[in-house]
Amino acid sequence: MLTVGVDIGGTKIAAGVVEEDGSLLEHTQHPTDPTDPAAIEAAVTAAVTELRERHEIGAVGVAAAGYVSPLRDAMVFAPNISWRDYPLRDRLATGIDLPIVVENDANAAGWAEFRFGAGEAISSMVMLTVGTGLGGAVIHDGRLLRGAFGAAGEFGHMEMVPNGHYCGCGQEGCWEMYASGRALTRAARAAAVAQPDRIGALVEAAGGPDQAIEGRHVTAAAQAGDPLAKELFAELGGWLGKGIADLVAVVDPELAVVGGGVVDAGDLLMEPARQAFRRHLTARGFRGELRIEVAEMGNEAGIIGAADLARR
Ligand code: BGC
Ligand code: NA
Ligand code: ZN
Repeated sequence: MLTVGVDIGGTKIAAGVVEEDGSLLEHTQHPTDPTDPAAIEAAVTAAVTELRERHEIGAVGVAAAGYVSPLRDAMVFAPNISWRDYPLRDRLATGIDLPIVVENDANAAGWAEFRFGAGEAISSMVMLTVGTGLGGAVIHDGRLLRGAFGAAGEFGHMEMVPNGHYCGCGQEGCWEMYASGRALTRAARAAAVAQPDRIGALVEAAGGPDQAIEGRHVTAAAQAGDPLAKELFAELGGWLGKGIADLVAVVDPELAVVGGGVVDAGDLLMEPARQAFRRHLTARGFRGELRIEVAEMGNEAGIIGAADLARR
């Protein structure tokens, strides 16, 4: 059976037709306004309708950034979109007459990595998606952990820093505020103000004033060897590694897979993450030690994972 996976992103809806072996047959994108739930639904419906013109589809999996209900039908809460107790599946069902399941975006990406990517050969892993926000997934003994209330793996909102930066979830000091694309942008813009003598490469990459600096500009500058940009990734990697050491206390997995746009920086992010992980790991040297690896499924992980979970 072919299924469609849909990934609701920050600026667009991406959708694709996926085979049982995880391969993506066709892929489409529709722009959307992420602050407008009705616009999101219209874009999802348009994408699914378009793909169904050419393929026989059995079900639809929708990956969304936020807390999903245990029945996989509603968005309970979203830190960065105005969903509160929102019946997303029923809303979508008015325009799509197929079985629909709603999945957390990071759970979908983690499932794709587990089935077809970096975690294919192992049975216990955690996934971290370092994009606009910080998403998480736990796969243990071959099963995706959902929790009693659907919100297992919401790592991004563990408190890392008492009285730290204010988060869209209403709390302060969340891990997401230190290890995400948004954290990177914030730190870069702050450095631009505080260390004006060091920001030449960042401003040049952004082609504009300090406040135009985006995460991808920091990546470009770091890859070109800019010391400030490299420091920013090292700092982000440090937060990532420290948090992964905490996760080990709960899950003790074989592998942590790191995905999302920020991993484009490669070892500039991953090496500091691995170092911080080792520094913070309790009982180091006396226990088995997880590997921290870059995701393999790229931008399509959410689509492929959601499509695969829609069959289950
Ligand atoms: C949300 C998660 C989501 C993550 C990545 C977090 O802010 O709470 O549900 O998986 O961002 O999009
Ligand atoms: Na999750
Ligand atoms: Zn938060």
